[in-house]
Amino acid sequence: LTNGLGMTPPMGWNSWNHFGCNIDEKTIRETADALVSTGLSKLGYEYVNIDDCWAEFSRDDKGNLVPKKSAFPSGIKALADYVHGKGLKLGIYSDAGYFTCTRKMPGSLGHEEQDAKTFASWGIDYLKYDNCYNGGLKPTVRYPVMSRALMKAGRPIFFSLCEWGDMHPATWGAPVGNSWRTTNDIADYWQSMISRADQNEAYAEYARPGGWNDPDMLEVGNGRMTQDEYIVHFSLWAISKAPLLLGCDIRNMTKETMAIITNKEVIAVNQDPYGFQAKKVRMQGDLEIWAARLSGYRIAVILLNRASFRYRITASWDDIELDPETVVEARDLWEHETLRTHFVGNLTATLAPHSCKFYVLKPIA
Ligand code: GLA
Repeated sequence: LTNGLGMTPPMGWNSWNHFGCNIDEKTIRETADALVSTGLSKLGYEYVNIDDCWAEFSRDDKGNLVPKKSAFPSGIKALADYVHGKGLKLGIYSDAGYFTCTRKMPGSLGHEEQDAKTFASWGIDYLKYDNCYNGGLKPTVRYPVMSRALMKAGRPIFFSLCEWGDMHPATWGAPVGNSWRTTNDIADYWQSMISRADQNEAYAEYARPGGWNDPDMLEVGNGRMTQDEYIVHFSLWAISKAPLLLGCDIRNMTKETMAIITNKEVIAVNQDPYGFQAKKVRMQGDLEIWAARLSGYRIAVILLNRASFRYRITASWDDIELDPETVVEARDLWEHETLRTHFVGNLTATLAPHSCKFYVLKPIA
């Protein structure tokens, strides 16, 4: 969407994966505080996004959405002011249907202009727009209406289409939104995570600055995957130019979680100005190579072992479109080291089960 937003994939946090409907203004404020105190905001995590369940079940007598009194007694405007005061941005959620997915609050179908104005007047910076209870109307009919309403609302608002990939939103999303879900909801286990990465990869060529494929939010730190699996999760999202929206309780994170989500070099791949989404360039059973061109003649490469056994895996220059004689320097983004050996023709690593290596390769003269 040409609203000037999302020139790199959005970064921040969303309430859904960890809290579900169990949200209130205190949690949101504390999360904003934690984004700053942990240093995450300095790394680029700027959006604080409220998901489903923030509103009363009924609109007011003028048809306006009303924040749930029991959970947001100070209102959303006050919360936006608080979040802005910390140098962060506030996101909110609605639905391109008659109700949101939990059926706990109204949707915006038929109220697009009114709701867009309400969000703008509160100081909202990001709208996630879901797909439940849509009366069978096509997304290509419903989503552009909110897109136009937001463009007229008088405030730049990042527009995130949450259409779950049903009608291939990658093929029509770019003029409508800044990102579009390509998958159903993620859950906190390996098979769910890796299958979302797979589905999202199919649309790689549609990603570009201003419009990104979205394989759903991060589960890193929620506890049901191993450290290696979470490293794979974060690596694949980063190289796929996916939104990096944290989904854990960032007020209580382990050192291990912090080590993953604060990896500046991995974040830099995600935020590279070129915005090319990685593709799988080699698949051999459970072994895969994912690669994406980066600015500065560099290439980001992931060597991935999806098996439950240890494996050796080789990326050859042929896979990543390098001339066979090219000599490269390899930076290992998780070990934080530049390998002393220079590589010609290929690069090999031995990988533990459900783990990966993430390199940035730079040709040298
Ligand atoms: C849908 C979305 C999720 C989340 C829930 C909230 O399932 O895909 O990301 O927003 O609704 O009800």
